[in-house]
Amino acid sequence: MRIYLIGYMGSGKTTLGRELASKLRFSFLDLDKYLEKKYFKTIPQIFEEEGEAAFRLKEQACLHEVSEFEDVVVATGGGAPCFFDNMDVMNRTGYCVFLDVDSEELASRLMESKTERPLIKGKSPDELMDFIDKMMEKRRPYYERASYIVSGTNITPEEILVRIE
Ligand code: S3P
Repeated sequence: MRIYLIGYMGSGKTTLGRELASKLRFSFLDLDKYLEKKYFKTIPQIFEEEGEAAFRLKEQACLHEVSEFEDVVVATGGGAPCFFDNMDVMNRTGYCVFLDVDSEELASRLMESKTERPLIKGKSPDELMDFIDKMMEKRRPYYERASYIVSGTNITPEEILVRIE
């Protein structure tokens, strides 16, 4: 059994994923970290040296691998559901939970960690809000293919468990 947490950067996939996995006694896997280990490079390095398209291919390959793991909660990268057949793979091999956090909250969380995220590096608060809104519009149709949607600024693992059970 696999649970995939999907949603925008800063929606809390990693933090919630860890908590959820420990409650379910599942393993926790962060797809970005898995990718960095597999290719011996950080994500910013891959974006810089090889470009986004190369990163997306690697991300897809990693997703295919982890979709065969048992009893795992996977925190995916924010863009993962929006490329190739990734959403089909996740829906076929597990339950997808979309963490739907509003863009103002995302922007304030991301202001603190934007240096590690190549897509938003160097943006001012206003630029960031605008970027999030525009990208959310494109990504939402993919995210909404999840089995469950949980929203709010304070999503708890219990809330997700209730839905899944
Ligand atoms: C990305 C999100 C990142 C990472 C990469 C691209 C995106 O993951 O995969 O920088 O396209 O939204 P997080 O959502 O964990 O920040």
